[in-house]
Amino acid sequence: MRIDILGANGQLGSEINYLSATYTHFDFTFSDVADTDITSQESLRHHFDTVRPDVVINCAAYTAVDKAEGEAALADAINSHAVELLAQFSNEYGFLLIHISTDYVFDGTSCRPYLETDRCNPVSVYGRTKRAGEEALLANAKRAVLIRTGWLYSSFGNNFVRTMLRLGQERPVVKVVFDQIGTPTYAADLAAVIMRFAEISHEINDVQIYHFSNEGVCSWYDFARRIIASVSESCKVLPIVTSEYPTAAVRPHYSVLDKRKIKEELQIEIPHWEDALQRCLAKLL
Ligand SMILES: NC(=O)c1ccc[n+]([C@@H]2O[C@H](COP(=O)([O-])OP(=O)(O)OC[C@H]3O[C@@H](n4cnc5c(N)ncnc54)[C@H](OP(=O)(O)O)[C@@H]3O)[C@@H](O)[C@H]2O)c1
Repeated sequence: MRIDILGANGQLGSEINYLSATYTHFDFTFSDVADTDITSQESLRHHFDTVRPDVVINCAAYTAVDKAEGEAALADAINSHAVELLAQFSNEYGFLLIHISTDYVFDGTSCRPYLETDRCNPVSVYGRTKRAGEEALLANAKRAVLIRTGWLYSSFGNNFVRTMLRLGQERPVVKVVFDQIGTPTYAADLAAVIMRFAEISHEINDVQIYHFSNEGVCSWYDFARRIIASVSESCKVLPIVTSEYPTAAVRPHYSVLDKRKIKEELQIEIPHWEDALQRCLAKLL
């Protein structure tokens, strides 16, 4: 079976690349924008003519949440228009499309974990472009898995964990918001779940949405405390509210995902975010 990873140099793509060594019975292809630009129909056609994949995992995205506020057209091209192209190609070439979306499609006003069927109402350009990508996939694809995740980090690439490790070593005090609540997701754990879907791809004949993060709930402040404690005994981590740390994009105050559907259908147990973080830190430190 041929598994084709697009946007392969990012956090998630790198984790799938790392994991691929254990799946010796699959043929993997890894490409990023320099080889295959997912916003270009010609580039995608040439790619799929060459690779002839059975499963395509789309890890490519415009993920700079604040920068997206000033680059809506580019974010839309990558997060929405390209997903429409991928959905159409999935029908033409007959591959299963596995696509990743975000907890930021919700507005954060819920007081219980979000279900796959809950109403979307994104509050940022990034969230709106990712939701538009979901709608394009749902309207066009016949065989697809759409996984919403949140607060993604990895030992690869730049992310919150690596930023906090650096700040914890450089500064005596780090202030972090404690009124945005969610669940961190170790990209290695998401990569493993994506491979479970790839393994059963021949059984998938429709389009389904799933929620995935690690288990548990925390604020960015709680998350930062755990990270910084691993590198510094002296750095103080102080809680602040969102209004004390203004950003270009509005972020949901609550974006915990309900994961019952993916756990029941794949028969999996999901690691708690604190255990997952320890595994990532062990790799990094
Ligand atoms: N990061 C998070 O906290 C988070 C949270 C929830 C959901 N997600 C979703 O999870 C998925 C994976 O995220 P990630 O953090 O692994 O992303 P990432 O690290 O930003 O990686 C995205 C990759 O896509 C590439 N790319 C950009 N435009 C492309 C194009 N036109 N054609 C092909 N490749 C292109 C990027 O290349 P360049 O770097 O050169 O642009 C980068 O290598 C995304 O769908 C994202 O929306 C992420």
